[in-house]
Parts: sequence; structure tokens; C-alpha cells
Amino acid sequence: MNLLIMGLPGAGKGTQAEAIVETYGVQHISTGDMFRAAMKNETEMGKLAKSFIDKGELVPDDVTNGIVKERLAQDDIQKSGFLLDGFPRTIEQAVALDAMLVDLGIKLDAVIDIEVNPDILVDRLSGRFICRTCGATYHKLFNPTKVADICDKCGGHDFYQREDDKPETVKNRLDINIKQGAPILEHYSAKGLVKSVDGQQDIKLVSEAIKSILG
Ligand code: AP5
Repeated sequence: MNLLIMGLPGAGKGTQAEAIVETYGVQHISTGDMFRAAMKNETEMGKLAKSFIDKGELVPDDVTNGIVKERLAQDDIQKSGFLLDGFPRTIEQAVALDAMLVDLGIKLDAVIDIEVNPDILVDRLSGRFICRTCGATYHKLFNPTKVADICDKCGGHDFYQREDDKPETVKNRLDINIKQGAPILEHYSAKGLVKSVDGQQDIKLVSEAIKSILG
């Protein structure tokens, strides 16, 4: 199965990606995670990405398209399929992705669009915390760990908050993504691929809605 997951920052893409990967065994390709790994390792690409991400802006298309193209060409993708999370983010990226998939002989099966009202997203992002060991995502109020300060998934107890989750950066991220997202959805709607899900329900209900769409 080859899938895209779309939605505004904080819509729940990463949270639902964890469940989809567990159920369907597809490879999770998150451009945000790839950039954060490069930033942590202080590579040249990481330093460049940081200069955009810290301001809530998009990393230039040529850089982003390059890392996705490289990842899609790896063997495990042909074997297991993929879930692209956070890409494409511009119509230019969507057109570039179409060309990459044609070159690789891969067909896209569905685009899951998680719909939420932007007004709730600042609260979602300001309360988000992430396990440093396994990357599992939680929320102080909406999705806490079962035992305080211990990760449900790996038992780790070191958590962090993302630099770009500060309210002033979030506002810019939302503005940019609202503007850039609409033409991408139109692009995939015209291909009959978009499956919309109400992202304002409980996390488990969102997961169930996605499962019933994917079968
Ligand atoms: P990226 O990492 O992709 O971030 P994003 O799209 O802004 O999305 P988030 O990861 O913030 O949110 P999410 O939808 O995954 O929500 P989550 O599941 O965590 O990108 C970061 C940056 O990298 C970009 O700003 C850009 O600079 C750069 N970048 C990345 N890709 C790029 C590209 N293609 N081109 C150019 N630049 C790019 O959930 C959020 C919180 O809400 C969590 O705390 C969670 O527990 C909670 N939650 C989730 N679902 C629910 C629910 N149903 N009810 C209540 N709470 C919920």
C-alpha cells in the first residue's frame, strides 16, 4: 500500500502514522523527521533546514524533493510500500512526486486528509511532547502517557518539546500550510485519491475511521 497523509500542523499526521505503520507494515517517510535528524546530526542539510524550520517556513523544494526521491528509491519501499507524511507541501512538490513515482513504477493508492479547524491547533502543538528514545508523540491533556513520565511504547523517560511548537512559530506554520495545502488537495481530488477523515474526534476514533477507509 502506498499512501500519503495530509493535514495542517498538529492535525494528527504523526500520531495516526504510528498506528498505520503498525497495522499495515508500510515504511513511514516523514520529511519533518528527516530534517530533525539532520539538524540533530548538524549536517549541512540540517543546518540549512534549521534556518527555515525555526521560523516556521518551508524548506526549499529542491532540497525536500531530493531527500524524498532518494528515500523512495530504496529497496524496502518496493517491498513494503510507504506512508508519506508531510510531503508534498507545495504543488511543485506534488508534481515532482508524480514524476518520481512514474520513474519508479509505483502507484499511489490513497491520500488521507485529516480535517481539523485551525483554531484548535495552537493548543494541540503547545501541549505536545515526544519520547526522545522512540519518537512516540503525546499530549499533556489529550493524549498523556499511561504512567506519568514513562513512554507507553518503549519505557523511556526522556521527553522533549519541539522548538517550532512555540505559539509565534506555529502561527506562521499554519498560515503557510493553509495557503499551500488547498491546491495539493485539488490535485489529488482530481485523481480521485482523497479520503477525508474528521480529525477532531478522539485519537482512537480517527484511527478507526482511517482503518475502515483502508480496509
Ligand atoms: P513536520 O514535522 O511535518 O510538522 P507539521 O506538518 O507541522 O506537523 P506536525 O508534526 O507538527 O503535526 P502532526 O500533524 O504530525 O500532529 P501530531 O500527530 O504530532 O514539519 C516540520 C517542519 O519541517 C515544517 O514546518 C517545515 O519547515 C519543514 N518541512 C517538513 N516537510 C516539508 C516539506 N515537504 N517541504 C518543506 N518543508 C518541510 O499531533 C499534534 C498533537 O496533538 C500531539 O500532541 C498529539 O498527541 C495531539 N493529537 C493528535 N491527534 C489528536 C486528536 N484527535 N485529539 C486530540 N489531540 C490529538
